[in-house]
Amino acid sequence: MFEITVDTSLPKTVFYKELESQLEGLLYDERDLICNAAQLAAFIMQSVPDLNWSGFYFAREDELILGPYVGKVACTRIPFSKGVCGAAARTQAVQRVDDVHGFSGHIACDGDTASELVIPIVVEGRLVGVLDLDSPIKNRFSIEDQQGIERFIHAFIKATDFSWSMGV
Ligand code: SME
Repeated sequence: MFEITVDTSLPKTVFYKELESQLEGLLYDERDLICNAAQLAAFIMQSVPDLNWSGFYFAREDELILGPYVGKVACTRIPFSKGVCGAAARTQAVQRVDDVHGFSGHIACDGDTASELVIPIVVEGRLVGVLDLDSPIKNRFSIEDQQGIERFIHAFIKATDFSWSMGV
């Protein structure tokens, strides 16, 4: 069994760096996209406090389709024109939303969500999808949280073979 050691008393940059090493161990010797996405969604939910949803949406032409996640059941498809996830996919820019009720067009899969962090996943210049994190707490995601999760995504990209997903 893979044990994750979490010390939330650490400064955030150290906290995420420590978790990044553990994530690299978890993903070691597996390169399958679906498997590694499932592991990353669960790893984040298990190690990063104050979240109520952690998961992926993968890009399919002009919309996003639900991938592996942990949390309440969610909407299956999101056009690039809608929601926080669509904004991240459309702009390929991180969406760090302190209060989702102030985000025009926010899609509320979970009524408990108060803030959201959505990070686009771009591999070799192509949008693969987005990683979506929801929190029941307003202003939950600082720039240090964003940079820490971006480290996780870099480790995920390094550990994963995207060849099959690039063709669809
Ligand atoms: N809130 C997202 C939709 C995905 S659910 O949160 C899992 C959005 O506005 O795009």
